[in-house]
Amino acid sequence: MKCLPAFDFFSLFSFILIIEFSFAADSIARGESITDGETLVSSFQSFELGFFSPGNSSNRYLGIWYKKSPSTVAWVANRNNAITDKSGVLTLSNNGSLLLLNQEKRSIWSSNSSRVLQNPVAQLLDSGNLVLRSNVGRSSDEYVWQSFDYPSDTLFPEMKLGWNLKTGFERYLTPWRSADDPTPGDFSFRLDNSTAVPELVIFMGSRKHARSGPWNGQTFGGIPWMKDSVFKLIVEHKEDEIYYKFKPINDTVTTRLQLENTGTYHRFVWDETTSKWYKLYSWPFDHCDNYEECGANSNCRSSKTPSCECLTGFISKSQEDWDSPDSRSCVRKPSDCPGGEGFLKLPKMKLPENYWSNQSMSLRECEAECTKNCSCRAYANSQVVGGGNGCLMWFGDLIDIRECSERYLWGQDIFIRVPNSDLGYRRRVDQENQDQIEDLELPLFELATIANATDNFSINNKLGQGGFGRVYKGTLVDGQEIAVKRLSKISEQGLNELKNEVILFSKLQHRNLVKLLGCCIQGEEKLLIYEFMPNKSLDYFIFDQTKRELLDWSMRFRIICGTARGLLYLHQDSRLRIIHRDLKTSNVLLDHDMNPKISDFGLARTFGGDEIEGSTNRVIGT
Ligand SMILES: *[C@@H]1O[C@H](CO)[C@@H](O)[C@H](O)[C@H]1NC(C)=O
Ligand SMILES: *[C@@H]1O[C@H](CO)[C@@H](O)[C@H](O)[C@H]1NC(C)=O
Ligand SMILES: *[C@@H]1O[C@H](CO)[C@@H](O)[C@H](O)[C@H]1NC(C)=O
Ligand SMILES: *[C@@H]1O[C@H](CO)[C@@H](O)[C@H](O)[C@H]1NC(C)=O
Ligand SMILES: *[C@@H]1O[C@H](CO)[C@@H](O)[C@H](O)[C@H]1NC(C)=O
Ligand SMILES: *[C@@H]1O[C@H](CO)[C@@H](O)[C@H](O)[C@H]1NC(C)=O
Ligand SMILES: *[C@@H]1O[C@H](CO)[C@@H](O)[C@H](O)[C@H]1NC(C)=O
Ligand SMILES: *[C@@H]1O[C@H](CO)[C@@H](O)[C@H](O)[C@H]1NC(C)=O
Ligand SMILES: *[C@@H]1O[C@H](CO)[C@@H](O)[C@H](O)[C@H]1NC(C)=O
Ligand SMILES: *[C@@H]1O[C@H](CO)[C@@H](O)[C@H](O)[C@H]1NC(C)=O
Repeated sequence: MKCLPAFDFFSLFSFILIIEFSFAADSIARGESITDGETLVSSFQSFELGFFSPGNSSNRYLGIWYKKSPSTVAWVANRNNAITDKSGVLTLSNNGSLLLLNQEKRSIWSSNSSRVLQNPVAQLLDSGNLVLRSNVGRSSDEYVWQSFDYPSDTLFPEMKLGWNLKTGFERYLTPWRSADDPTPGDFSFRLDNSTAVPELVIFMGSRKHARSGPWNGQTFGGIPWMKDSVFKLIVEHKEDEIYYKFKPINDTVTTRLQLENTGTYHRFVWDETTSKWYKLYSWPFDHCDNYEECGANSNCRSSKTPSCECLTGFISKSQEDWDSPDSRSCVRKPSDCPGGEGFLKLPKMKLPENYWSNQSMSLRECEAECTKNCSCRAYANSQVVGGGNGCLMWFGDLIDIRECSERYLWGQDIFIRVPNSDLGYRRRVDQENQDQIEDLELPLFELATIANATDNFSINNKLGQGGFGRVYKGTLVDGQEIAVKRLSKISEQGLNELKNEVILFSKLQHRNLVKLLGCCIQGEEKLLIYEFMPNKSLDYFIFDQTKRELLDWSMRFRIICGTARGLLYLHQDSRLRIIHRDLKTSNVLLDHDMNPKISDFGLARTFGGDEIEGSTNRVIGT
């Protein structure tokens, strides 16, 4: 009996120790503080909070950064009030506010929650959110303050950009002024709730710098998007709030969006193999994304010079003043409404601003409604998912409209009212454009399909090994034979190389080029699927004493001419100018009839239309 109190005391003591220890890791309680040099680390080691100096500055700021990438600071508390030395202290005061004190113990930043907590705890969560809650409450409703409400330049997954409709409180991003200075810069990235359908807008001061086009149920039509993306976008409009956020499809993926003080944001994904951020894309994408780059009823096409051109059915307001930017405006051609006109479909467009919407109308109803009213200039679906639904209608000038490049999944169909005289001719041209675009849509294969076709990438099906991966033979369920290039996981350039090749190939069609059937990007796997070449490659014949006999002179001549034709197409006749840079006998494949087909464009380099000479910075291949 005598021992018991001592025993109890000991277990109680160790219990306290454990609690103390775990608190020290990711949170502080009332009266506790962190000084410069000390940090909090979230429980799964994703984020760290502490003091840092940005770039070359010696100023100190309290911030949150990625534990695996300490130079990537994603949130800053005292953006406007630097601490000039290392005496800063973050403390959880008696009334439950977080206070940042400078050397004079003066508060230079605080969490301004209005509620006083009994037993407050400030905790750094694995989402990167610093929250203030009572030591019993864990749900997000119980946070009296959270850093996610005061974004800096970075949008974390699950962080909301938008409005509390009850209080009018808005969450938006502002860039750092420079790499040395986290003071808010000139731009802001916000959700615009003044439009009939939510849009994202980058503002410069109070002026629009770029707009995303309306939310279409899947994405914002004016922002490049990828079918196989690693994250998905969410827009919710509830009674008390409207917001945009994103969420990785697989929680193991680390992705963020960062706004720069150039008015551009970048979407990054962390590459575990190289321990580097990989830039997925940036937006604004090109000059056609600048708000009102072209005037009213004028279409912006970045591949053309000049970029601005009146939409079909419209003519330039003043042909002479075309060069002065303010007059790049187009007006309707005279037409007899109703009856004398119809609707022309423009595919892959960023939708213009100022529309009316009804989410429950079909496209047919939308067209009927627009046809009835002569002041309706255009209509489109408001939702693209499930084949399209909802209705948008434009009654005034079509402002801030652009054509979206073929590379990504962005833009959507809009139908504009044009005189009958413009209808017949454009329809044909339009159809041709449409065909081209559809040609470029590469089928995506499921990994399971390819694994099955290649017998789980069996060694027996291996055809060879190239610079950045192995090649396997496969047979699809329908009997079609394929060659599968499996890009090696270790290859640092993997994803770039793949995108390069996919984009190039999808634009090139020639009988002396190997045809790309599709691709597959799933998790770690990156695969390219080609037509299968039964007679292997030229080296297989040429460098073999007996097999070379099989190539008679007429056949050799045919192979030489075919290869040259393929090369001429690449160099001169294709829309892109491409030098192969690694043309060798093993890259000249032979089909069933011994026709040569050039393969392996991963190392190719594209030139702009008029840039015939280029400098390359890598020595490559042959
Ligand atoms: C820091 O200073 C060095 C040398 O002046 C310069 O090269 C570098 O770009 C600066 N870094 C930042 C983030 O400003
Ligand atoms: C907290 O401070 C921010 C500015 O830092 C201000 O916009 C917001 O209204 C304040 N909230 C409360 C509850 O005082
Ligand atoms: C808590 O105390 C700080 C500093 O003493 C003060 O600025 C803040 O307004 C107080 N907060 C509340 C909710 O009373
Ligand atoms: C946008 O949000 C603000 C803040 O709540 C609100 O005052 C305004 O009415 C909203 N605008 C629209 C069109 O819903
Ligand atoms: C998420 O990614 C990891 C690692 O790449 C993988 O093992 C896991 O199966 C993925 N989960 C899902 C649901 O795709
Ligand atoms: C939207 O369209 C539906 C179907 O045409 C109609 O019943 C409804 O009244 C419309 N709503 C508005 C706000 O116009
Ligand atoms: C056409 O639409 C405009 C804008 O909604 C409206 O003001 C006008 O009354 C409509 N005209 C007819 C004939 O319905
Ligand atoms: C796998 O291949 C077999 C025949 O080889 C076929 O019957 C089966 O349907 C295939 N499964 C899938 C998922 O493609
Ligand atoms: C491929 O491997 C998976 C898992 O290792 C197995 O379930 C499947 O049956 C294999 N398929 C073939 C065609 O060998
Ligand atoms: C090329 O492949 C076809 C089909 O596999 C075969 O019949 C033919 O003999 C091959 N030609 C040569 C020269 O090997």
